[in-house]
Amino acid sequence: MQPLTAYCMRGHRQVEGWLQRGSLSILWSLLEAQRLHALAGDVAEIGVFHGKLFIALALSLTNEERAVAVDLFEMKRAPDFEQEFRSNLEQFSVPMDRVDIRRCASEMIALSAAPEIFGSNVRLFSVDGSHEYAAVIHDLNLARACISQVGIIALDDLFSAWSPGVSEAAIDFLRHPDNRDIVPLAISAAHGPLITGASKLFMVHASQVDFYASELMRMNRQSFKTRASFCGVKTLVFDFTNGVRKRIEFR
Ligand SMILES: C[S@@+](CC[C@H](N)C(=O)[O-])C[C@H]1O[C@@H](n2cnc3c(N)ncnc32)[C@H](O)[C@@H]1O
Repeated sequence: MQPLTAYCMRGHRQVEGWLQRGSLSILWSLLEAQRLHALAGDVAEIGVFHGKLFIALALSLTNEERAVAVDLFEMKRAPDFEQEFRSNLEQFSVPMDRVDIRRCASEMIALSAAPEIFGSNVRLFSVDGSHEYAAVIHDLNLARACISQVGIIALDDLFSAWSPGVSEAAIDFLRHPDNRDIVPLAISAAHGPLITGASKLFMVHASQVDFYASELMRMNRQSFKTRASFCGVKTLVFDFTNGVRKRIEFR
């Protein structure tokens, strides 16, 4: 079994964090689509915590690709967790020589410096750091500056009552005239208490929507709920009330 498959099926349960199985299933499908179609590029996450999502990104690396992790590695209830993050990466045999760990507030990364830090060919960029409105807008702009033409932005905690600024930022970002080319692709509905995470929003360049939508449908047909209009675009909604079922790729 491939390491990414093993991690998404079982390994992730050993890592503390905020990532529900439904969202992981959609993220995994997108990484699989990129692998099957040989879409190369780097991966990045702002807000990695103990690495629950980041490990999935890093296990999708091939050849010369890199993974960039940005985090403060300090929270009120957890004084310093960089070591837990590093140990978890090692436990799942992530290639550490291709991981770049930046210990800083993402607001300290200027938009102009983003390509130098994350590269300008990122195929999957997860935004899950500060959940305050201004920081989320900043992080989404960093992601937008670095994704490739086939790149995906994943935003955590959409529609969470605990962090309404995330939804406000997502809507303002998608409606901003400079971002007309970025559109919502899919929403993974929350299925569990908020303490385990909330919905994720996946966004792509408009030219890639049909490609990724057909791959998501192929791999997650049993979890498909509806196509709902969000910021003027018909967006796939996946719901996991009846369990999380993803078609496993053996190629
Ligand atoms: C919800 S947790 C991330 C969960 C993680 N993605 C997972 O897979 O479990 C949010 C993380 O963002 C980090 N963070 C908060 N504010 C930040 C900021 N301004 N810059 C960078 N990281 C930040 C926190 O330290 C924490 O690790």
